[in-house]
Parts: sequence; structure tokens; C-alpha cells
Amino acid sequence: MTSRTLPTRHRPARAALAAALALLFLGAPATAQDKAPEAPAPSTPVAQPAAPAPAQLQPVSAFDGIADEKARSIAIFEETGKVLLHPRCVNCHPAGNAPLQNMDMKPHQPPVVRGEANFGAPGMQCNTCHGPANVEVVAQAEGLQSVPGNPNWHLAPIEMAWEGKTLAEICVQIKDVNRNGGKDLAALVEHMAADDLVGWGWTPGKGREPAPGTQAEFGELYKAWAATGAHCPGE
Ligand code: HEC
Ligand code: HEC
Repeated sequence: MTSRTLPTRHRPARAALAAALALLFLGAPATAQDKAPEAPAPSTPVAQPAAPAPAQLQPVSAFDGIADEKARSIAIFEETGKVLLHPRCVNCHPAGNAPLQNMDMKPHQPPVVRGEANFGAPGMQCNTCHGPANVEVVAQAEGLQSVPGNPNWHLAPIEMAWEGKTLAEICVQIKDVNRNGGKDLAALVEHMAADDLVGWGWTPGKGREPAPGTQAEFGELYKAWAATGAHCPGE
């Protein structure tokens, strides 16, 4: 038995507890406690506005008509920008000392800091509340429906900040081995296509809009971008 076994085994319970605590932190109305337990929601939702169609990514083939290889590479990269600039990614790649949240990318509530290793401060680490998987919470109208989770949940290091940057700047930065965690082009493409934490962007939990398209389509675009010279906008 290693000392790691215990916290791991207790994490789901901890995450659920933390979710409840987070609701208190967030000042959500305590209607759940005030009212008698209600019957489960009917399976046909009543008078709910239709959810907007999920945003799509164009397939690689949509760019076949661009004869110039460099122009094609840039157009493909710009298509991936729909994901890179999406709040699901930028919220965890902030320029400051704390994560952002929701579609309006407001400061994280409750306030947390990145800490020395981007896992939070001692006593308020990310995995105090963010478990190994998303955890649904009792839904409040317009409120929090789930706490995001992933086994590797922590903040992207400051040199990988995307917040407030243009797509051209992000493009140059993610290719720079001194700022991308030492990834060559193949490793960068692999990270986009297969990394589990990146993948959370498409499975962000109840009540959160996923990034456009799918991670597989996103990965295909990156392979095509690399194969066409990995050019950046404005190059
Ligand atoms: C929970 C926080 C979190 C979320 C959400 C997140 N990232 Fe990251 N990202 C990180 C961390 C931490 C690293 C650095 C560690 C690593 O390389 O795995 C990183 C590194 C990266 C890198 C490599 C370094 C670089 O150049 O920035 C890429 C590319 C990346 N993320 C893409 C994405 C994309 C695309 C999304 C959205 C679909 C996303 N990330 C969402 C935390 C996050
Ligand atoms: C005290 C509990 C708590 C701690 C500690 C905590 N979080 Fe959160 N975090 C939450 C809750 C609850 C949400 C969901 C808020 C919502 O969706 O309205 C959230 C949401 C987020 C989001 C937004 C996801 C999105 O795209 O909307 C990010 C990013 C995030 N947390 C990163 C972190 C990181 C990184 C750390 C550690 C440095 C951390 N959190 C520490 C409770 C916490």
C-alpha cells in the first residue's frame, strides 16, 4: 500500500462533497434544502428553449481547393482557432495567476491561485474540488450543473498562456519548444489529437458548451497543418 492509494480511492466522494461546498461558496440559492424532495424531472422537458446547434469544424477536405500550400496551411490553422480561442481551452490557459470560467471567461469562483506547480496553493489545490471526472450537482435554475474533472486537472503554465493573444501569436507560441513544454511538431500534433486533458474540451460536463467539432476532427486538421508546413497567420 502506497500513501497514494488512499486519496485516489476517496476522490469521488471528495469531489461530490467539494461540489456541495462549491455551491455554498458560489452563494447558490439553498432551495434544494428549503423544499421537500421533488419527484425526478419529467423525461420530456417543458418549455425549454431549444439548445443551439453545436458548433462544427470543417473537414480537411474543405481546404483542398486552396492551391497554394502555405495559404492552405494557414487556412487550416485558422479553422482550429475556433477551438483554441474557445473558453473551454482559454479558461485553463489564462494570462494571470488564476483560472477563468464559463463562456464569459470571468475570474474563477471561489478565488484560487495557480501556486508553484500550477496545481493550486497548499490547502486549496485544484483536486480539492476537481475530481478525476466531471461530477454532476443538483441543478439550480441558471446555475452550476456540474463540477469539471480530469485526473490531470491543473492550470497551463504561464508560458503557455493564450488569454488575450491573437491566433497568430498563439500559433507561434505553440510551435516554440521553449514555451510549449519541449514538444516538437509531431508531439504537438499528438497532444492536440489525443491528450486527455485537451479532450475534456469536448466532454466538459453538464451545463457547459463543448468546443466545436470533435477532438478527432481537430487532430486531423493539425495533421494536415503539419503536413503543409505548419505555417502561421501573417507569416
Ligand atoms: C484543466 C485545464 C486545461 C484545459 C481545460 C485545457 N488545457 Fe491545455 N494545458 C493544460 C496544462 C496543465 C498544460 C501543460 C501540461 C501538458 O503539456 O500536459 C497544457 C498544455 C497544452 C498544450 C501544449 C503546450 C502549449 O503549447 O500550450 C496544448 C497545445 C494545449 N494545452 C491545448 C489545449 C486545448 C486545445 C484545449 C481545449 C480543447 C486545452 N488545452 C484545454 C491545461 C489545460
Ligand atoms: C473550492 C473548489 C475549487 C477549487 C479549489 C478549484 N476549483 Fe475550478 N471550479 C470549481 C467549480 C465549482 C467550477 C464550476 C464553475 C461553473 O461552471 O460555474 C470550477 C470551474 C473551473 C474552470 C472552468 C471550466 C470552464 O471552462 O468553464 C476551470 C478552468 C477551473 N475550474 C480550473 C481550476 C484550477 C486550475 C484550479 C486549481 C488552481 C481550480 N479550478 C481549483 C471549483 C474549484
